[in-house]
Amino acid sequence: MAWVSLTIDVKEPDSELVQSTLYDFGAAGLEIRDSQNPVMPQVRKPAAGDAIVIGYFESKGDAEEAKAEVLERFLGARATLEDVVERDWSVAWRDQIKSVTVGRLWIGPPWERATAPKGKVCLFIEPKMAFGTGDHPTTSLCLAAVDDFMTGHPGATVLDVGTGTGVLAFAAKKLGAGRTVAVDNDAVAVALAKECAQENGIEGVELSTKALPSLDGVFDLVLANILANTLVELAPLLAPKVKGRLVLAGVLVPQAEEVKAAFVKQGLTHAQDVVQGEWIRLDFTRKP
Ligand SMILES: C[S@@+](CC[C@H](N)C(=O)[O-])C[C@H]1O[C@@H](n2cnc3c(N)ncnc32)[C@H](O)[C@@H]1O
Repeated sequence: MAWVSLTIDVKEPDSELVQSTLYDFGAAGLEIRDSQNPVMPQVRKPAAGDAIVIGYFESKGDAEEAKAEVLERFLGARATLEDVVERDWSVAWRDQIKSVTVGRLWIGPPWERATAPKGKVCLFIEPKMAFGTGDHPTTSLCLAAVDDFMTGHPGATVLDVGTGTGVLAFAAKKLGAGRTVAVDNDAVAVALAKECAQENGIEGVELSTKALPSLDGVFDLVLANILANTLVELAPLLAPKVKGRLVLAGVLVPQAEEVKAAFVKQGLTHAQDVVQGEWIRLDFTRKP
């Protein structure tokens, strides 16, 4: 099949929004080059502070529309369209997916099932149209928090807000969580997370698009890996759900203070920060 590639050079903080824009306009797959995804020798690197996002489209028309949208929305972005030499994309993109080991957990794609480590708690996540294959730093930071918390709190109740593929909720369940609720405002993500639960033989995770106020109960562990501005907006709804520990990610280091202040204002106590590259995880507790 003939593909069209759309290569966008953009400021690294805008990279994730550009990625979702390309998906919205019909990209079948993406390649990212940034500080977290260094390139092979002889491959063009992003300029300092920039990322390169390459979207692969079946339709030239979709790629042209995506290009126009990106150039309008992201000041200073540069975009190039190119015909791609015939290539089996369905296999080539697999090279981009990395398995990760975090504490007791191993998360990887289904085609690594045969080589998954025997002594680990394994989750197989097919990278489709939802976020959360484990290899993004924000996901790894949360997986470490899940592993830590579940060690000391077997049977804990868990709420995962912005569950994407369901990866954090499933990890918690596999590590012995009790009632586990996972929500996402994207119905496609929830449908994929349900498939993913089935593929991993996980039962009992309550997956839905429910809004926070309609969820019953409070939870020993609340996880939310969403973007900083959304977390600030959600603070008054999220904080009342926290019985024990709140773990926030999706926050860039310079955004941390604003997010922290929003949750402290809701009566939570800031416990610790964990930094991975440009990303920071913020942990809070509710004092009895
Ligand atoms: C960065 S992904 C995190 C996925 C997964 N939890 C992980 O850690 O890899 C953020 C998810 O939050 C969802 N989301 C964004 N805003 C939301 C909101 N206000 N309420 C619920 N989910 C939201 C998005 O649809 C997306 O699936």
